[in-house]
Amino acid sequence: MKLFNIFPAPIRHLLFISSITMINAQVSLAAPLTYTDIAPILLGRCAMCHMPNGMMGAPPENYRLDSYAETISTTDRARVVPGNALASELYRRVIGHAKPRMPFNGPPYLSEPEIEHIGQWINDGARDANGIAAAEITGARIRLHGTLNNQRSLNGLNLVINSNTRIKKNPSIGDYVQVRGSVGANAEIIVDRIKRK
Ligand code: HEC
Repeated sequence: MKLFNIFPAPIRHLLFISSITMINAQVSLAAPLTYTDIAPILLGRCAMCHMPNGMMGAPPENYRLDSYAETISTTDRARVVPGNALASELYRRVIGHAKPRMPFNGPPYLSEPEIEHIGQWINDGARDANGIAAAEITGARIRLHGTLNNQRSLNGLNLVINSNTRIKKNPSIGDYVQVRGSVGANAEIIVDRIKRK
């Protein structure tokens, strides 16, 4: 403590704050993931195709994965629904619920921890490199693929089906389907059309 007291009060104050910060850093195992945590995966395994003039020429599905802004962009439709990994085609493609599974040139696909990180990053709010959560995207269009577990669940994703929903080709439980719709106020998926593939 003597050593501490050789500093004038304002500096002691700063030292105190920084020691609190250090304590926080140590208990930050559950801190929300940010783009910095997953950028190496996207840039290393995805961007070579999902960029202009990439391995496939134009970005497939016009979807770029070479920057944060492009990854969470809702132009055309949202592939990331902040706060809802299962409603995000990005996550569905890497875990294999949606086909073809990504990366398209796999196997090897992403490792389980990498897939988990991507899901966690989305569920934590798809934060940018500074830790700022992505804006809500209520009303954005989505297009998802997966298997119906029950009439209202796509691999565990709850589907909002109402009188406006068009049901095509009589999909039943166990079928692989395409869902088109939009994002509701609580990041839920409101289905416009569900179609057996
Ligand atoms: C070798 C090239 C290639 C690589 C590498 C690749 N993709 Fe793709 N990606 C494609 C192609 C081609 C499609 C369109 C496939 C289809 O649906 O028929 C696609 C489609 C997608 C879609 C669907 C977009 C939409 O609008 O529905 C997502 C999401 C996606 N990729 C994410 C990824 C992620 C994440 C990675 C890395 C883990 C990745 N891709 C790596 C070629 C690639």
